[in-house]
Amino acid sequence: MTETVFTYGSPSLKFGSGSSDEIGYDLSTYGARRVLVVTDPGVAATGHPQRIADQIKGYGIEAVVFDRTHVEPTDESIREAVEFGRSEGPWDAFVAVGGGSAIDTAKAVNLLTTNEGDLMEYLNAPVGQGRAPNQPLKPLVAVPTTTGTGSESTTICVLDVLSLKVKTGISHPRLRPTLAVVDPLLTFTQPAGVTAACGMDILCHALESWTARPFTSYDRKQPEQRVPYCGSNPIADMWAERALTLLAGSFRTAVHDGEDAEAREQMALAATFAGMGFGNAGVHIPHANAYPIAGRVKDFLPAGYPHDEAMVPHGMAVSLTAPEAFRFTFDADPQRHVRAAELLGGAASEGADALPNALTSLMRDIELPNGIGGVGYDEGDVEDLVDGAVKQQRLLATAPKDVTEDDLATILRGSLELW
Ligand SMILES: NC(=O)c1ccc[n+]([C@@H]2O[C@H](COP(=O)([O-])OP(=O)(O)OC[C@H]3O[C@@H](n4cnc5c(N)ncnc54)[C@H](O)[C@@H]3O)[C@@H](O)[C@H]2O)c1
Ligand SMILES: [Zn+2]
Repeated sequence: MTETVFTYGSPSLKFGSGSSDEIGYDLSTYGARRVLVVTDPGVAATGHPQRIADQIKGYGIEAVVFDRTHVEPTDESIREAVEFGRSEGPWDAFVAVGGGSAIDTAKAVNLLTTNEGDLMEYLNAPVGQGRAPNQPLKPLVAVPTTTGTGSESTTICVLDVLSLKVKTGISHPRLRPTLAVVDPLLTFTQPAGVTAACGMDILCHALESWTARPFTSYDRKQPEQRVPYCGSNPIADMWAERALTLLAGSFRTAVHDGEDAEAREQMALAATFAGMGFGNAGVHIPHANAYPIAGRVKDFLPAGYPHDEAMVPHGMAVSLTAPEAFRFTFDADPQRHVRAAELLGGAASEGADALPNALTSLMRDIELPNGIGGVGYDEGDVEDLVDGAVKQQRLLATAPKDVTEDDLATILRGSLELW
């Protein structure tokens, strides 16, 4: 029997300029007396986390700032944050101020200060044991400062397991933040390179959830088998479509003029909308490919990011194979692919070319690297990248058609140079 049911989950949301000035009040309604504010050094330097901590203190709530989140967290950096959380706790609530890196780190600290056990046990199988928390978590207020991941709405925490050279995650409904406070004013200081990479993450969240395998195509689940990611469904579709329209109107401007308030606000809305969509539908091939593209980086140093180590930022890693991935998925639902290209305002070409061309035209305008070759990979790396992508079966299963290792190799090879 095929599926007839889909689910929808999201945090409470407070959106708008100045919304981050009210967090002390929000925490007081939870009865919080002592909270941990989690951030990273780059975001700390903007002054937003300390300002928010001071505002929280105004409500008689103790607020301690932890600013050692690693940009794109690793098992090591999360362990350090958890040790801090465990030794300096207990905490009544957590506040994450930053991009996906800070929000995901706060999710892990919340999990591992309220539940026993080691990080590895909670990681998705087969890397970890996929252990589920048996204790409730504390309230988590997520305050995104990038316009990208949508982590403020999702049930996942993504991290790099250094010893195994794999990116994986923890996924459980209890990780979802209690409240998302999206204040566009916090996003103005994102460097252009961060705005570009994070914006491509929004775009791929919207496109991948919009083209995901429909929820009705799965086998019927038992109640205890339900997962947060249902495949495309009418509610997630609505968020995805709207996110695409917002991106079409604001993405290029936000990258080239970071002070444009309207563009920044539209991007913040787009990130939130796409997060609410993909957080329930799921993502597929570009995200599966992004794991090895980011995880096996050689010496690429992206503009706008800390230069203490090589990295391919998440949104950039996701975007580099997106044009070819959507060329591959086109025949699963041509109408949706063409519609997406139209929404992006780039339907200059037709059929299977429409969406890839709309994407590459945007990527050139915002100065993304020209394919995976642009971040240091060549033909000789394709096999290794396929090997990493094929391990992301949970994501590949959300693709609208079966994906073989040969298909992944064709997509990756076609993405060595995009224009
Ligand atoms: N949990 C999820 O649902 C989810 C979804 C997608 C990606 N992710 C993960 O999120 C991480 C990426 O997060 P991200 O793309 O939001 O970026 P990020 O948190 O890694 O931040 C990127 C850089 O921008 C800086 N920065 C952030 N906001 C700033 C601001 N307002 N002003 C100045 N500098 C600022 C940071 O210091 C950092 O150097 C990755 O680890 C990725 O795997 C998680
Ligand atoms: Zn993403």
